Amino acid sequence: MNYYKIKNLEQYIKAYKKSVNDPEEFWGDIADKNFIWYQKWDKVLHNDMLNGDIKWFVNGKLNMTRNCLDRHLNKRGDKTAIIFEPNDPNEEAQHITYKELHKNVCKMANVLRDNGIKKGDRVCIYLPMIPELPIALLACARVGAIHSVVFAGFSANSLSSRIQDSDCKMLITSDGGYRGNKTIDLKGIADDALKSCPSIETVLVAKRIDSEIHMEEGRDKWLQPLMDDAAEDNVSEIMDAEDPLFILYTSGSTGKPKGMVHTTAGYMVFTAYTFTNVFNYKEDDIYWCTADIGWITGHSYIVYGPLLNGATTVLFEGIPSYPDFGRFWDVIDKHKVTQLYTAPTAIRALAKENLSYVESHDLSSLRVLGSVGEPINEEAWHWYNNNIGKQKCPVVDTWWQTENGGIMISPLPFITPTKPTYATLPLPGIQPVLMNSKRNEIENHHEEGSLCIKFPWPGMARTIWGNHERYMETYFSAFRGKYFSGDGALKDEVGYYRIIGRIDDVIIVSGHNLGTAPIENAINEHPAVAESAIVGYPHDIKGNGLYGYITLKETGEVRDRDNLRREINEHIANHIGPIAKLDKIQFVDALPKTRSGKIMRRILRKIAAGDFDSFGDISTLLNPESVDEIKNGRIA
Ligand code: WTA
Repeated sequence: MNYYKIKNLEQYIKAYKKSVNDPEEFWGDIADKNFIWYQKWDKVLHNDMLNGDIKWFVNGKLNMTRNCLDRHLNKRGDKTAIIFEPNDPNEEAQHITYKELHKNVCKMANVLRDNGIKKGDRVCIYLPMIPELPIALLACARVGAIHSVVFAGFSANSLSSRIQDSDCKMLITSDGGYRGNKTIDLKGIADDALKSCPSIETVLVAKRIDSEIHMEEGRDKWLQPLMDDAAEDNVSEIMDAEDPLFILYTSGSTGKPKGMVHTTAGYMVFTAYTFTNVFNYKEDDIYWCTADIGWITGHSYIVYGPLLNGATTVLFEGIPSYPDFGRFWDVIDKHKVTQLYTAPTAIRALAKENLSYVESHDLSSLRVLGSVGEPINEEAWHWYNNNIGKQKCPVVDTWWQTENGGIMISPLPFITPTKPTYATLPLPGIQPVLMNSKRNEIENHHEEGSLCIKFPWPGMARTIWGNHERYMETYFSAFRGKYFSGDGALKDEVGYYRIIGRIDDVIIVSGHNLGTAPIENAINEHPAVAESAIVGYPHDIKGNGLYGYITLKETGEVRDRDNLRREINEHIANHIGPIAKLDKIQFVDALPKTRSGKIMRRILRKIAAGDFDSFGDISTLLNPESVDEIKNGRIA
């Protein structure tokens, strides 16, 4: 299975060259030697980027779950596939072996079939981070149903619009979920959502918090009794390589969320390949990705990537601050975690706390640290590297997107020398290119441009559910024949990529392009600063001025705000240049964030501009209350 493992720099260079010179041979070989197929493909790649018509492993036949589960049973049947670490540290962790996971997936697959689910049907999954969640994904894959996971933090409104968009026939949810010392009434939210979802025929309800819930006669069924009665036979649907595996919604800069469609074979090959290489995976590892399965990171790097490799993957139900800010470090110590894959926002939040939370735990099992989801600022990178990795664990800053299926640009641990704030080099098979505003390829070092990918890769989303036109428009229209990521980036003199951030976060001040990320980076280095977000606002002379929202560390020390403002601007002037100095600085208690931890700049831009009218839907924010506080403290 580890035929495709890159072991040193020479092998990386060789693999990369081969993947560019002969991509079909490169991916065909990996697909052939590492997976099981009912039928081999006729052609590795059908490539029509101009029309957004991409197919990988054309006419190949397979089932994802045979590759994730069945084929491991002989060698790894008794190996732990999933370690379930509950929200409450006093509740016992569960070790689910490959055999048990296989059995449960087969049972749930039969429950789905018994309830009328057939190949191609859409099943919405709205569950907390409990074992039923990955089991539900895999059960769908087993019967050929297309899963559409909706993050369990989303509102009824967001849930119903996603169910409607893809006409889901079934919803799998639970009575509720735990989040720190709170419970979430998932079934209540689902009931609300379902008032406007006539396509749903059946609701399967997992029991987690034992709450009193409403069960709708003829529609709602408890999952467990059905599982108890279900057959264990393991018939798996024969799927075409290009049959959709799942839909996952991601927000666009305008309009409703886009249902990105990922297909079976390409996604399988790509997630498996990237998992083993980016995390330096070894057979006895205990791998932990702290994302939620409601996001792409959880799909690809909690469920599919690890299971395809026969790995042990940790499923964590809780949050980093419960019962205290040492929880992550406690989980690592308890399960002897070897890889930690988390987000900069979590790192910054934990770095704000007293170091004793870290120091009271043994983190020596760790070998590789990962970061994903947004640019990791230099200070957070060093904190992670020094205090968590003890400078022994490479930090892999992985750049990719929901649309990409898997990691695109990232260091390979122990192979690629890391460089803070740089995602470094493309993985084999990925051909990035930076484009300038004249639509030409950028050759110069350190010149920022639009990050595009000029050749298909197996994990790319094939379309937007029900709207191929929007897919073409969003990703293939800005630069003809190329996939446009929407991110800006630059390359240093050795060819390392640094992701600057969304193109729409770039602010032009007095004719100068300024990425918000580098400025934030600089600000965050100030010892008093915890986190910052910079937005542009209309400015009479400069075109745009810079407005900074800054949260401070809780040190107990009271600082003069005007002095702090001066110091921060001096720091920016020293690090980036006087041009990047902030015109306005507002100190806030918290920045408004999405559930996945991204700062909601759209709202911050509006407040900076004094436009309080149309914030759009803020109910899906993690902390909607922060918006009022920021509004009231706005600097005019
Ligand atoms: C951002 C998450 C800088 C980027 C897997 C991208 C990053 C968006 C990084 C996709 C990184 C992700 N460095 N920026 N290492 N990783 N991003 O769809 O702007 O939730 O376009 O996928 O996150 O977010 P998504």
